Parts: sequence; structure tokens; C-alpha cells
Amino acid sequence: MKFQKNIPLIDQHDKYGFWGGKFGGSFIPETLKKPVEDLTISFSKLRKNSEFLKKKNFYFSNYIGSPTPFIKLSNLSNHLGGAQIWAKVVSEANGGAHKIYNATVHALICKSLGKKYIVGDTGAGYAGKMLSMAAKKFGLKCKIFMGAKDIKRQKPNCDAMRRNGAEIVPVYTGSQTLVDAVSECMRYWVSNCDRTHMCVGSTVGPNIFVKICGWSTSQISKELKQQIKEEFKKIPKRIKLINCVGGGSSAYGFWSEFIKYPKDQIELIGVEAGGPKRSKLHAAPLSRGAKLGILHGAASYVCQNNEGQINETESISAGLDYPGVSPLHCYLKDLKRARYTLATDEEALNAYKLIKKYEKLNPSLEPCHAFAEAIKIAPKLNDKTILIVNSCGDAKKDRDILRKRIGNLK
Ligand SMILES: Cc1ncc(COP(=O)(O)O)c(C=O)c1O
Repeated sequence: MKFQKNIPLIDQHDKYGFWGGKFGGSFIPETLKKPVEDLTISFSKLRKNSEFLKKKNFYFSNYIGSPTPFIKLSNLSNHLGGAQIWAKVVSEANGGAHKIYNATVHALICKSLGKKYIVGDTGAGYAGKMLSMAAKKFGLKCKIFMGAKDIKRQKPNCDAMRRNGAEIVPVYTGSQTLVDAVSECMRYWVSNCDRTHMCVGSTVGPNIFVKICGWSTSQISKELKQQIKEEFKKIPKRIKLINCVGGGSSAYGFWSEFIKYPKDQIELIGVEAGGPKRSKLHAAPLSRGAKLGILHGAASYVCQNNEGQINETESISAGLDYPGVSPLHCYLKDLKRARYTLATDEEALNAYKLIKKYEKLNPSLEPCHAFAEAIKIAPKLNDKTILIVNSCGDAKKDRDILRKRIGNLK
């Protein structure tokens, strides 16, 4: 299937579920064939069902709090000189991050399927926190799989999950981070899929989970497009949309409405986790040229060794600390529609310090990677260029790491 401008990217896969003929698919065990097929059919019906859409829109406005603000970072722009820097403050959504969109849609799907149990994975803890919130709201029983290392470094989000009545299942295998949490969650679903619905926390996993997540987060770019038109009276000539990329759900949601525009008008810049400056480890499959591999039921660029074993990753940001990436981003990379780069731990921390100094914003370590790129390129551009960063998470969860690495900023 050739890339088509006017079809949402989530729907531009072939009949086997592959984008660009090679990314995505559904590499699943035989026992999951039926539940995955059922979910695919249900979702294709639900997304066209006016009652379901009415419900979704109601909860997006009245529970999530859409639209989230679109603001100019005037002090930061003046300090750096060059391009104008703006932020879409998605962290203002209920719960403090974009993960609430996917979680809410999955909870609504779970209800429609008549299931009472929902399970999900989490890294930074936001996907888990949001799923626990949505489960509580809709009366579902919730279980969250989370790597033991992440449980330690993202305590505030774990506290929130427990307060919402979710069970956190610690994962002690492998690197004890997101990659292992997703694997364990999928393993659990294989034996419990008859009465349990699974929410994959990003645009990764078998084809249908990429689609549901991308469909949910695309709300962000729908709002942004409207807000840009209101602010500038038209879509300006030079915009750069900068987003961090872990699995890729916030970036896809931030970009989806803009993919069809020419890239010299709207450049899409994805920023992966470069890891600590001194370490060889990173979580940047797209910008470090990782090869195609299979991870969590889909084909994508994956950090791996010569034998195809998944490489260990390292990042200060638990949400970006993942060796794979969405097939949607692999396809956008191959199409050369998006440019992918990385920011190191230190660059993300410096970005955080600068933002705290100049603006009333508290971005978590994930979006700080995107801010680091904006800070790097803004002075080289002129003020006709509009950089928009998706500030997709709040730093409350990073309290302990920030205190340790940069002390008290006040
Ligand atoms: C605030 C925030 N931003 C970004 C990410 C990365 O995920 P994705 O690339 O799917 O948006 C996470 C993941 O947990 C997150 O919590």
C-alpha cells in the first residue's frame, strides 16, 4: 500500500497489518488469534458507532479536560533568541499526561465488550496510573505490570495506582523496565484473555493495539490544529512539531493531523533517549540506526545485537527507556516524513533547569528530551519559525530523580 495523504496513518496498513509492507503486523501465539480478531472487529465497529463516539467525546471533554492549553513560552524564546517556542501543555490533562486518552478509550472498549477486568503495562507509571483511574471511573478491576526498577524510580505514580485500587505486579525479569513489563503483561493476557481486556500503553504491540492507541491520542493534534488556526488565523509557513519518542504514542497523537502537510511547512521532529553521555547504552532505535526486529508482537526497528537479542537500554526517563518503537514511526522514518534525533540525560536535565528558570511549566523528563532539541535549534532559526513542543507529562513523578540530580530549584 502506497502512502496516501488523506487517510489516517493508523489505517494505512496492508491486509496482514503491515505499514510500508514491513512494519507492524501481528506476531501472536495461536491462542490469541481469536481474541485479537474479535477486538479488531469490535474496534472497527465502535469507532464508527455514534453512541460510542458520543461517549468518548463526552469523557474527553468532561473527564480528561480536553482541549489542553496551547501557550507561547515568551521568556524562554526571548532568552534564547531566534525561533518562537510554544508548548501544547498536554500535562494539564486529567492525571498529568497524554496516556489518559488511550487508557480511557480502552476502558470504554472493555465495558463495551462486557469484560470486567483490565490489564496494562507501564514504564514511567503514567500509562498505569491512567489505566487505574479509568478502571476506577468505569468500575473495572485493574492489574498493572511494571518493572521493579521503574517501581523504585517512579514512586508517586505507583502510589496513585494503589490509591485507585489497582494491583501492581512487579516484574523482576531482564532489565526490570518497560520492555519486561510489556512482555509479562502480554504473557498474562494469553492465559486470561477470555474475561480480561488488555491495554497496551503505547502505539506498539500487535497491529490492533497500535491502531487503538493512535486513534485515541490523535485528539491532541486535532485540538492543536484548531488552536494554531485560532492563534495565527491560518497554518503558518514554518512550523516544527517536536515530540519525545518512547513507544511513540504522544508523537503520533501530536503529529497525526499534520502528516499530510509538506515537510518544509511542517517539520516533524522526534527525540529519542540518548541515555547518559558517558554510557554506550541508549534507547534510540530510530536515530541510532537499529535494525528491523520483532518485539512484542510487531516488526519495528529494535535495539538488538548481531544475534537478534534485544539490547539493554538506559535512560534517565523511564517512559523513553524502551528498545523498540512504534511501526508508525518506523514508517514515517522510511518515508522521510519525520526526522528523528536524540537527547542525552544531561541535555534533558539542562532543558528542565532552563524551563523552570524561565517559564511556569513543570515538564517530566520525557518531554524534556523534546525541549532539549527545541533549545538546541531555536537560536539558529528566525522568529518566523514556530517551534511547538508537546509537553506531554508532568514532572511530579520525577520528584526523587530531579532532587538527586539537580537539587532543589526554588
Ligand atoms: C509523560 C510521558 N511522555 C512520553 C512517554 C513515552 O511514551 P510514548 O512515546 O508512547 O508517548 C511516556 C511513557 O510512559 C510518558 O509517561
